[in-house]
Amino acid sequence: MDRLKGLILSGGRGTRLRPITHTSAKQLVPVANRPVLFYGIQAMAEAGIDEIAIIIAPETGAEIRAAAGDGSRFGVRLTYITQDQPAGLAHAVLTAEPFLGADPFVMYLGDNLLQGGITDLVAAFAANRPDALILLTPVSDPQHYGVAELRDGSVVALAEKPPQPATDLALVGVYMFTPVIHDAARAIAPSARGELEITDAIQHLVDRGLRVEPHIVQGWWKDTGRLDDMLEANRLILDTIATKLDGELVGSDVHGRVVIEPGARLERCTVRGPAIIGAGARLTDCYVGPYTAVGERCTIERAEVEHSILLADSSVVGLEGRMESSLLGRNVRIGRTDHQPRAYRFMVGDNSEIGIL
Ligand code: G1P
Repeated sequence: MDRLKGLILSGGRGTRLRPITHTSAKQLVPVANRPVLFYGIQAMAEAGIDEIAIIIAPETGAEIRAAAGDGSRFGVRLTYITQDQPAGLAHAVLTAEPFLGADPFVMYLGDNLLQGGITDLVAAFAANRPDALILLTPVSDPQHYGVAELRDGSVVALAEKPPQPATDLALVGVYMFTPVIHDAARAIAPSARGELEITDAIQHLVDRGLRVEPHIVQGWWKDTGRLDDMLEANRLILDTIATKLDGELVGSDVHGRVVIEPGARLERCTVRGPAIIGAGARLTDCYVGPYTAVGERCTIERAEVEHSILLADSSVVGLEGRMESSLLGRNVRIGRTDHQPRAYRFMVGDNSEIGIL
């Protein structure tokens, strides 16, 4: 088979992760202190795919480019292609057609995480030579995904976010295509949400009698589009880390698997892993509980934080109750103040959520 190229979709508006995505791309929200997007690039690199295009949106493209660079740190070559409007996944494929040419390719949605990578799938695609290969996994809420119907192990029908799903088999955001997908993407009409759906383009292949091979995902899969998914992805990845204590520990206890990055300083703290504390963080008189990822240069003082993600440069100071299941953006300040009158004082962006004791 011709060499596989890679296509990573990193556009979209990220509406389900607002307010974080008001200022930043959803694909750069960190899981265990690493942008979600990097896991996809790494999965491709491990599968031997070294020529990869990343589809970016005009609003967040520069930030994605700055984060992932030319790809050399992953051992791949990255090209960036701007999709002018979020007009759908099949539209993104067409936008990338000049880059993809007549080569087969793997398409990976930049906010997806797939345990175990894609090496085995790439091998199956090369060995069986179907026209397309899709990944499926049973989910409890199939109405939020593309849904597939199988008969005798073959794909017979696909529907994008059907209100009454025929099965619980969701389309995972990793696909393998031969160039026949380009004509299919050109043949379909926009869906009710006004997008050219990749699900419809794959259905078009099925309708033409082309071979779409389904694979049921063996490990876990996460689409990190929503807060709960993000926290779960963070749990799943933190469960795989190995202890590495590079920072400075002063009168502090660390239990379980914990990563403390260089330049972090913990004074009179207890950290119960799995957890990761980012470079340059300052933690004083605090407790960090399981499944917490503290970003670079964060401050935590006289507070307890558990099962949470803190992006870079945020601070949590002087909380009486434990903070948990929270996602803080960059440069967020949460803390006790001595001002009178004693009151809650908020400066909170659109679509934020605050739960108080
Ligand atoms: C997209 C696809 C959907 C697929 C999902 C996986 O949905 O349209 O078929 O199941 O990704 O993450 P979106 O995230 O664009 O709503």
